[in-house]
Amino acid sequence: MELNILTLCYIIASVTFIIGLKMLSNPAKARTGNLVAAAGMTIAIIGTIFLYEEEGQKLGNYGWIFGGIAIGAIVGTLAAKKVKMTAMPEMVSMFNGMGGACAALISIVEFNHLAFPVIPGSTEIVYPGAAVGHVLIIVLGLIIGSVSFAGSMIAWGKLNGKVKDFSFKGQHLFNILLLLIILALSVYLVGWMPPQAKLIFFIILALALLYGVFFVMPIGGADMPVVISLLNSFTGVAAACGGFLYDNKVMLTGGILVGAAGTLLTILMCKAMNRSLTNVLIGSFGGGGTTAAAAGKKEQGNFKEISVSDSAVLLSYANRVYIVPGYGLAVAQAQHVCHDLEKMLESKGVEVKYAIHPVAGRMPGHMNVLLAEADVPYEKLLEMEQANEEFPSTDVVLVLGANDVVNPAAKTDPASPIYGMPILDVELAKHVIVNKRSMKPGYAGIENELFFQKKTSMLFGDAKKVLQDRVGEIKNL
Ligand code: TAP
Repeated sequence: MELNILTLCYIIASVTFIIGLKMLSNPAKARTGNLVAAAGMTIAIIGTIFLYEEEGQKLGNYGWIFGGIAIGAIVGTLAAKKVKMTAMPEMVSMFNGMGGACAALISIVEFNHLAFPVIPGSTEIVYPGAAVGHVLIIVLGLIIGSVSFAGSMIAWGKLNGKVKDFSFKGQHLFNILLLLIILALSVYLVGWMPPQAKLIFFIILALALLYGVFFVMPIGGADMPVVISLLNSFTGVAAACGGFLYDNKVMLTGGILVGAAGTLLTILMCKAMNRSLTNVLIGSFGGGGTTAAAAGKKEQGNFKEISVSDSAVLLSYANRVYIVPGYGLAVAQAQHVCHDLEKMLESKGVEVKYAIHPVAGRMPGHMNVLLAEADVPYEKLLEMEQANEEFPSTDVVLVLGANDVVNPAAKTDPASPIYGMPILDVELAKHVIVNKRSMKPGYAGIENELFFQKKTSMLFGDAKKVLQDRVGEIKNL
């Protein structure tokens, strides 16, 4: 009877994961979607703790279980509450790494169950029922989980500036060799089950951790969100291996969903940047490499500046204004005052919309989340293709802390590291006002020829301060 209730708990949890994931694709429902999936996960966890039985025995060990849950819950809640929006990819990476570590630990525990001599005193290693499939899943979970853990930790370190990009000549070959050794050892272990199985198992663990480090080390900083999404899909697959091991349907479903969602997100991000996954993995893009540095040195000529009051006049007398938010808007935390500007302009009869580039900011949907925080209505956010069609009939485009996503070099300069990335064609509008603090490049480390074009005016200063001043000016007009 209890087992049936547990099965029901797992079915409910699996359904909530699917519904929650579906809701995440709509900004208005994303928050609820998260809660729905979390509720499902809680049901699955509580059900497992109290209802799971093996050979008539309940789990027990409640002190350890709830002690672990309490520590995890406190650390997780504090981290999530304290994290700045701009540091979100870092936190995702850290959490993902923990998932990978869990999957690897499950494999270690389960391997030890198999590999210890079953006959007391015997040195012979016995695999019950010679379950090759079982050992294969354990080894797969170990490799994928360890790569995901080590890779995510390096990605976390890179995003918060503690780990610098590192590569050496022939590193990609070295990585391939490392992977081949891991695979060869795994085939030997699973296929032949030799007496030194335990030693080989731990060598595989060490090499997989090493591979995770060397896999992520050479990847450029700007590509980290793509890598994190890829590692996220690895963790999903590793968790699904755990589901197979324990014949636990909810773990299997959850793992497969994470694996599939991570893979799709990776593909979508690559598509938005118009780059192949191979190029992301071996291209060293945005890490301040030679191409980026060379492109940054190009002579561009003069730029013109505009004052806050002149920009206020230009915006107030426009018919249509497009705001292009970028990473700098998130850094300045200027989303609320940006919404104030939008409302003020609309009260003066100006049509205001936002043009959202798919990779503006530092994580998928970064700008949507940021503007949603300030209650900007979703229907005001236009996707890149739609905005590009409307720019020719736009009077003023206000670029707020964005750089790479409006860089025409993506279309005109084949030597540029962002060449081929679809961008917002803001230069098609009548006037462009760019607000940033200096002429420094954005994440790709390259200069932006838009800043030197005739119709572009630069307005230097922190986005929040400049917007506050401008709102004040418009009020007085
Ligand atoms: P960026 O190209 O990084 O430019 C942001 C600009 O904001 C900087 O040039 C900076 O100039 C300015 N800024 C910083 N703090 C500011 C502040 N307080 N006030 C005003 N301006 C400020 O950003 P973007 O245009 O959003 O492009 C995103 C980049 O990240 C792209 O290269 C994209 O490929 C990459 N990326 C994104 C993702 C996702 S999923 N979003 C994934 C992978 C890669 P100053 O220092 O002069 O102020």
